[in-house]
Amino acid sequence: MIYKVGVWGATGRMGQEVASLLHSGFTHRGALMELGDVVASSKKIRSVDGVPTRTPEEPVFQDVHVWIDFSRPEATLKLLDHARCPIVIGTTGFNEAELKRIKEYASDHAVLLAPNMSPGLNWILKMLSSVSLSAKESFDVVLSETHHKHKKDSPSGTLKAIKSVLGERDFNEPQVNVARAGEEKGTHQIQLFSECEEITITHRVLDRKVFAQGALLGAMYLLKKNQPGLYSYLDIDI
Ligand SMILES: NC(=O)c1ccc[n+]([C@@H]2O[C@H](COP(=O)([O-])OP(=O)(O)OC[C@H]3O[C@@H](n4cnc5c(N)ncnc54)[C@H](OP(=O)(O)O)[C@@H]3O)[C@@H](O)[C@H]2O)c1
Repeated sequence: MIYKVGVWGATGRMGQEVASLLHSGFTHRGALMELGDVVASSKKIRSVDGVPTRTPEEPVFQDVHVWIDFSRPEATLKLLDHARCPIVIGTTGFNEAELKRIKEYASDHAVLLAPNMSPGLNWILKMLSSVSLSAKESFDVVLSETHHKHKKDSPSGTLKAIKSVLGERDFNEPQVNVARAGEEKGTHQIQLFSECEEITITHRVLDRKVFAQGALLGAMYLLKKNQPGLYSYLDIDI
């Protein structure tokens, strides 16, 4: 089976990583994925891996089986108006009204909403979500994140996800440190301090390819699942 993938935000840092993996022939369990449509807000990059760039307002060149979105929240909303198939949403920084619109779309189509597509970070989230509730009260929590200076949302979607998982385990409200500096690809740190010990977990992205691989694996998951719903990366067996 060959699946056509549309990339929304295809000319950006992440979109180009996804396109580059598709260009080198992304296969998973016998299925092949190919780049089918390339959308950005402008045509300052005229094509990506041979597929011409179009803006959301221009007609579709080719129907796709699945969309991968790494853009901006307002652009994601345009995609929801336009798409009729599963969507992997990697974009971050949605407000409540935007999240509501994503949930509406997910009542008819499969959607994976994941502020961090790296398997390593998702292992950490899974690990934290299984911490014993009896362990929580004695720890002070400090969450820190550093990203490149072009990143628009702050704190990151990943930091919010870590905070939410710790909140579900009844940990104390964390102290949060955020930095936007240089070209840093993304570092998150979780520190837990008790009277007699400290636990530090650090996740550092060395190559953005990790997010692109995660997004394509997520797309395969949605295509195989073939059921409407709003999924998180924790639903995927990684
Ligand atoms: N989930 C994850 O694992 C993960 C990992 C990394 C980043 N992210 C998130 O992914 C998003 C994109 O990050 P990035 O670093 O790739 O950003 P970027 O380099 O700024 O790229 C943004 C892309 O979106 C397009 N775009 C912007 N507004 C648009 C509109 N109104 N309609 C259509 N396309 C539009 C841009 O096109 P033009 O250049 O033509 O404007 C560009 O192609 C951010 O929200 C970031 O936080 C998520």
